[in-house]
Amino acid sequence: MIPVLLWFLFQAPPTLDLPRVDQNPFTTSEDIALGQKLYNGRCAGCHGLTGDGGKGANLAVPALPRARTDLALYRIVRYGLPETEMPATLLAPQEVWQISAFVRSLGSSPNQGAKGDPAKGEQLVLGTRGGCLQCHAIALQGGRMGPALTDIGAKRSPGHLRRKLLEPAAEITESFRLATVVTKAGARITGVRLNEDPFSLQLRDFSDTMHSFFKDQLASVNVERRTTMPSYKNRLTDAEIDDTVAYLLSLRGNLP
Ligand code: HEC
Ligand code: HEC
Repeated sequence: MIPVLLWFLFQAPPTLDLPRVDQNPFTTSEDIALGQKLYNGRCAGCHGLTGDGGKGANLAVPALPRARTDLALYRIVRYGLPETEMPATLLAPQEVWQISAFVRSLGSSPNQGAKGDPAKGEQLVLGTRGGCLQCHAIALQGGRMGPALTDIGAKRSPGHLRRKLLEPAAEITESFRLATVVTKAGARITGVRLNEDPFSLQLRDFSDTMHSFFKDQLASVNVERRTTMPSYKNRLTDAEIDDTVAYLLSLRGNLP
């Protein structure tokens, strides 16, 4: 009985206060302008001012893969996407609709990420010219020093992907940061930080060995601001960067 009650308490019941209409009732040009203001304040930091700039998913597409209907879009904007970086927002229903109207309008602007050739990009990324599999996994092959790229196209915008190739230190992901810990016994270990919570921390060192620490065993933890991801600015041509971005955008896990 009590576990069942607790389950109900911790289960956010999103469907309970979903609006009763399927179609966005707030789509006038004033609504879109108000939505843009809200978007600039709350969403542009991750998605970029034009929807394709930041480290959020690309919103400047004609059809959003997870928000084909207005109600699906409403639900994502209001409640976020669980277990991803996409947060919930506490806004009045009218404001959620207005942001949604603005988000839809982003899809009508041209998408600069798609100008490359994904087939060429694939050869580059999987082959030695890019050498990306040294550190990244795509589907089941590749390394583990960096995050898997299997669904990167669903998660990130073309702008972020392009910057990641040209200037990798500019937008470093929170996961897969380099960290150095010194234990109270005096051992120093550097590796990729996989997880950290208030009590523990997990690292994978460069010889692929996992280390798990309770924080009270540690004298210091230093999470670094540099990244091991190399810049491809001088290693690939502009056209090759476009091809690589186009290929990365096509990697969408199970999404269409
Ligand atoms: C902290 C960063 C962050 C903020 C703030 C943020 N988003 Fe997101 N958003 C993301 C990420 C990351 C994803 C992709 C999640 C994934 O698949 O891993 C995403 C996904 C989405 C999607 C799904 C797109 C699809 O694939 O169909 C929509 C729509 C969206 N965001 C809209 C918004 C709106 C509107 C706001 C402001 C109210 C907002 N986001 C605020 C990071 C953010
Ligand atoms: C020497 C290792 C290494 C190589 C080689 C490498 N990367 Fe990375 N990459 C990383 C690490 C570590 C991260 C995570 C930390 C960060 O954001 O910089 C990362 C992050 C990324 C991200 C951002 C992921 C996100 O969630 O936003 C993308 C995209 C990416 N790499 C693509 C590539 C591509 C494409 C190539 C080949 C052209 C490549 N990487 C080559 C180590 C590498």
